[in-house]
Amino acid sequence: MSVPSRPAHLLRLAWSRLTKPTPKRRFGYRIARAESYPTRIPSLPVTPHPGYVGTEASLEHHKKHWLSDGYHADLAVAFRKYLGPNFAGSVLEVGCGMGHLHRVIGVRPEQYTGVDLNERFLAAGRAEFPGVTLIQSSADRLPFPDKTFDCVLCCDVLIHLEDMRPALKEIVRVSKSAVLLRMRSGNGAYQTSKMVYDPYQERLFGYVTLEGRRHYGYYNVLAPEDLKSFLAHAGIEKYECEELLPPEAPVHGLTKVFFRVP
Ligand SMILES: C[S@@+](CC[C@H](N)C(=O)[O-])C[C@H]1O[C@@H](n2cnc3c(N)ncnc32)[C@H](O)[C@@H]1O
Repeated sequence: MSVPSRPAHLLRLAWSRLTKPTPKRRFGYRIARAESYPTRIPSLPVTPHPGYVGTEASLEHHKKHWLSDGYHADLAVAFRKYLGPNFAGSVLEVGCGMGHLHRVIGVRPEQYTGVDLNERFLAAGRAEFPGVTLIQSSADRLPFPDKTFDCVLCCDVLIHLEDMRPALKEIVRVSKSAVLLRMRSGNGAYQTSKMVYDPYQERLFGYVTLEGRRHYGYYNVLAPEDLKSFLAHAGIEKYECEELLPPEAPVHGLTKVFFRVP
């Protein structure tokens, strides 16, 4: 079998890129289109987000945010606002990392169940927070019957999924009453250099460098009309939200979305 010469191979690659049909519109599309990004690199590999790289280095990387006091202050305020200061029901957190958020929202360990893909994060959480229930599972296949938890919380996770909609359906399915999401809107790419736009996939990617290697992950950033259609997909029409910024905003919004399950 003949091995294609490098220039011929590159020409074929360039031709396939030029003739490739425009991908379907995705979340974050307008934001990505609207700006010119400093870093443009040929099509990025679609890898899992750094959030679920299962290395010791990624755990250390995350712990800096997760165990610091200020990082989730807005979420603590939103939880109290929507669920009251003395919420005594059960909480499921989807994409819980170490399960550290039960302290932030002020619930007892027995009230709290967390699921995450990354067993290393969960193991660290079991050691750090006795009493919480932490289960390995994917957000789009939650191992619970319908209407199991009084509140389902999902913070900084949906933005990292290739398709956020199946996870949202699962979140709605297992909630008895309330759902609180924290997502991103506005234009995060202004704010951090650790963001690249892949013109071929028409998507934003965030990256972290761990042990000398860059790990790229999806970055879904909501525009206001995206949010409406995203929630409608799971049958949600009424919702409240805070800090929902338009794509032109030069900063990102840590958008909090709250709704009751019909
Ligand atoms: C940025 S961290 C957020 C952790 C925590 N919710 C917080 O706000 O501090 C994203 C988490 O989502 C988890 N994750 C990513 N994809 C997931 C999926 N499909 N199912 C469950 N967890 C997932 C990662 O392992 C990681 O712990």
